[in-house]
Amino acid sequence: MTQDELKKLAGNYALKYIDQDDMIVGVGTGSTVRYFIEGLATIKSRIQGCVSSSEQSTKLLKEFGIPVYELNSVGTLDIYVDGADEINHQLKMIKGGGAALTREKIIAAASAKFVCIADESKYVDLLGEFPLPVEVIPMARSYVARELVKLGGNPVWRENVVTDNGNWIIDVHNLKILNPVELEQKINNIVGVVTNGLFAMRGANELVLARSSGNIDVI
Ligand code: 5RP
Repeated sequence: MTQDELKKLAGNYALKYIDQDDMIVGVGTGSTVRYFIEGLATIKSRIQGCVSSSEQSTKLLKEFGIPVYELNSVGTLDIYVDGADEINHQLKMIKGGGAALTREKIIAAASAKFVCIADESKYVDLLGEFPLPVEVIPMARSYVARELVKLGGNPVWRENVVTDNGNWIIDVHNLKILNPVELEQKINNIVGVVTNGLFAMRGANELVLARSSGNIDVI
């Protein structure tokens, strides 16, 4: 099966988590989540609506006629479904390939359960092969980049990308992330960083993993 077919498999499987009527569902961003949203559209009469992590997902949800709520107007979400760029065996992740990391991290924090949907290529022993996205306040870009070099990374500005929050992204290459929680905290402590794409302090609770064989494992 192709990677895209596996993403679709994982996205559709996650509909199983919509197991009560009138849920408000937290929705991530990306091509795997797109399949989840397409699946949600087929059961939209059963849900109250969604909280969305990006303008991209909001647009898609609205196109399907699914109500989108502000996080501030709802309580704790029962469930948040999102993809990942890498996920390790402890269900800690690198996210932000789609530049939506800050809103994703906020919704993840406000949700009781984070279900990650991914194809097998994302499942890794060690995080860091995928460059770690860091969202920065634009005027802090050079300063933050110099601080990231001190942490052993090779920062590259993702030019021409402005996040939904009006900020910029630096992708940090060549990190071997042996202690994801420590690195997440260290990077977040750099002045000018909004947040970074390590989801280690709050990782996923469950991983819906589409194996290249076409089988689904729930980990
Ligand atoms: C967006 C993300 C996505 O979840 C991540 O990039 C995975 O995307 P895809 O499902 O397209 O492979 O973190 O900011």
